[in-house]
Order: sequence, then structure tokens, then C-alpha cells
Amino acid sequence: MSEELHRIRLSVNGVTREVELPARRLLSDALRHDLGLTGTHVGCEHGVCGACTVLVDGQPVRACLMFAVSAVDTEITTVEGLTREDGSLGPVQQAFAECHGLQCGFCTPGFLTTVTACLRENPHPSHDEAREMVAGNLCRCTGYQNIVKAVERAAELADPQHPDGQRPVGQQPDAPVEVQR
Ligand code: FES
Ligand code: FES
Repeated sequence: MSEELHRIRLSVNGVTREVELPARRLLSDALRHDLGLTGTHVGCEHGVCGACTVLVDGQPVRACLMFAVSAVDTEITTVEGLTREDGSLGPVQQAFAECHGLQCGFCTPGFLTTVTACLRENPHPSHDEAREMVAGNLCRCTGYQNIVKAVERAAELADPQHPDGQRPVGQQPDAPVEVQR
């Protein structure tokens, strides 16, 4: 017997999408398979690794532990929604790229969403607080040093008072002027 399907609306990255799915479809599966948002990665599938973390009403949530139907009437943000309005990398994404805060990249979407939420709560973390922010996410490539550096850099990039704050992607303060001949 086939499972009963429910037609629901999910608001993801500011866009409302209609999907038809069984009541027990996980949010992580709905995002990836029903909505095609494959930026959300699935590792352990039981709430341990943090790879599947998305923001639900601004709070980090393990999408592998939540049913999609439970996300109705919430605002979901996935890694795809962390870019700036012009489509360029957002501050946390840019910081991970600058600091080489990723290796294979499998865990990275979960770090990016987690750090985005944490920096909203604490925009100027100490080194220990930056470490604490990523303590619940696992990276099997184990490159945590650069991930912590990226958190600290993301705090700078997200700070409008910092010289590099809000600077468009790729435009560094001391970038040499290229002369075309
Ligand atoms: S896949 Fe959800 S926490 Fe690991
Ligand atoms: S960069 Fe490979 S799992 Fe984290």
C-alpha cells in the first residue's frame, strides 16, 4: 500500500514552494529530493554530525531530525540562501573560502548555517567562543584550525565597522590595480 501524500507549502530562502510528500519525509530529504536544494548534505542521519543543519526561523536545526511537515509556517534558510542579494558569497561563505576552511566540503554547509546563526547572536566572538560555535559540527577531514579562523574572519566580514566589512566578494583592500596593456 502506498503512503498517503500531503500537499504542503514550505518557505525556503524566501520562496514559497509547494510539495507533496508523506508525513514522515525528513526535512533533509524534502530539501534535497523534492526541492532540489542539494546544498544541504546528509551524513550520519541521526543528529550527530551537523552536516544537514539548516536555519528554521533563524535557529540552527538538524534537518535529518525534523519532519518536513513540521516546517510548515516557518522560514527555512539553507546554505543556498546565505549569499548576498546580488548572488555573491555572503560573509560566512567568503570567510571559509578565504581561510581554506573546507577540504572535501562535505561538512561545510552545516558549518556555514551554524556559524551564520551563532554570529547573529554573538557578532564579536573570542577565540574560545569561535571554537565553541563549531563544537557541535563534525568534519571528517579534521581541518578544524582553519574552520575556527574562518569563523573569526566571518565576524570581521559581517561587521560593517570593520575595514573589510560588507566588502564585495573578491575586492580586497590592498588588491593591486591590474593594468591592461
Ligand atoms: S546528517 Fe543530520 S546531523 Fe548528521
Ligand atoms: S571538509 Fe571534509 S568533512 Fe569537513
